[in-house]
Amino acid sequence: MDRIKEFTKEHVDQNSTQENGLFYDFLHSKEPYQSIFKNNPWMIPPDLKKPLEWRGDHYWDTTVARKHEYWKEFDLPKPTKDINQIRKDFLEWGFALIEDAMSKEQTNNFLNRLVEQAEGERLAEVENLTPSGQYVNTLINKGKLFVQCIEQEPEAVQAGPLIEQLLNESLGKGWICHSFLANGSDPGGYPQGLHMDQGPLSPWITQEAPALVNTMYIPQDINEENGGTLVIPGSHKIMIEAGSDGQIGKLPPAINLEAKAGTVVFFDGRLLHGTGVNRTDQPRFVATQSNVKSWMRTQENWVLSVAPEILKDASPKLLHRIGLQALTYGSTIEGFGLGASGKIGDKWGAIQQFRVAYDEGNYQRVRELSSSSTKEELSKSYTVKTAWKNTRK
Ligand SMILES: [Fe+2]
Repeated sequence: MDRIKEFTKEHVDQNSTQENGLFYDFLHSKEPYQSIFKNNPWMIPPDLKKPLEWRGDHYWDTTVARKHEYWKEFDLPKPTKDINQIRKDFLEWGFALIEDAMSKEQTNNFLNRLVEQAEGERLAEVENLTPSGQYVNTLINKGKLFVQCIEQEPEAVQAGPLIEQLLNESLGKGWICHSFLANGSDPGGYPQGLHMDQGPLSPWITQEAPALVNTMYIPQDINEENGGTLVIPGSHKIMIEAGSDGQIGKLPPAINLEAKAGTVVFFDGRLLHGTGVNRTDQPRFVATQSNVKSWMRTQENWVLSVAPEILKDASPKLLHRIGLQALTYGSTIEGFGLGASGKIGDKWGAIQQFRVAYDEGNYQRVRELSSSSTKEELSKSYTVKTAWKNTRK
């Protein structure tokens, strides 16, 4: 076969330069982080090969707002149960503190389960050690209360209905859970680099509304001593003003969040934040449940990771939350789900049955077929065929 010159790798390479690359300047602008680091050298993350530097100006060398030279004059978010105040704080500062989102009992159960799990994972040598501390991943498989948190079930998180309402408002109904994991800040650990959780979308900023919203569970008091999460209050607004591909000038300083056990921090995916440094001798956990638009790829690959018995008992709402409710533009399997609404319980998007078939070793995929396929090949009980049949039940 004669090779067509225009389709050869050599020809394509010769005719592909940075200058004529599609959208090159925009997609490779490295903004907003490039200008952030250029104009705010104190934002540069630590060198993990060296001991943590405390001399000089560094974002991790800070304190809580009420003790902070710059921030103490500002009316930053205070813990509140008032949904209207939460909306105001979220819009103005990029975060809000939902007071007593978990009751004392719920908070204790949450922390105890987390601490036990972390210990168990260390003993089983499956602990995930990050430069900041131990993470406990995929909480969905590690306690019923975590499953209930994903569903904002008041039995595990008493502020559930309020949180769910705010997520519906900010992400639009149909949002799904990106991941739910616990972030440890261990004594001697490094701070995380300050980042936006929806940073992977950069240089798009999504000026009108966030594409990701985080709900951070605080199961033990956090402060400037034990690695209270670092945030730059209002930084989401600076991103919004700069816009997609925009440059960022001088930023205000970071603070450590101060919050009591039981708080849920509700924060915008465009807010600059990161794990703080723990200067005590005790580990400290928070747990982040971030949430995204229904068609986005989730951080946790729930379809693979969720345990069979959790899947078996899952409510239609939980299946939806973890992306096991297909919709036209997300999670379809072999065409099943195309045309589905994505709504909770919609039979046309029920992909749980594929995972169950897979677990049982019965997942039959449609493979190469033709008029010369054997009778056996043509009459196999293909899983997609069964799934379509089930929509008529
Ligand atoms: Fe983050």
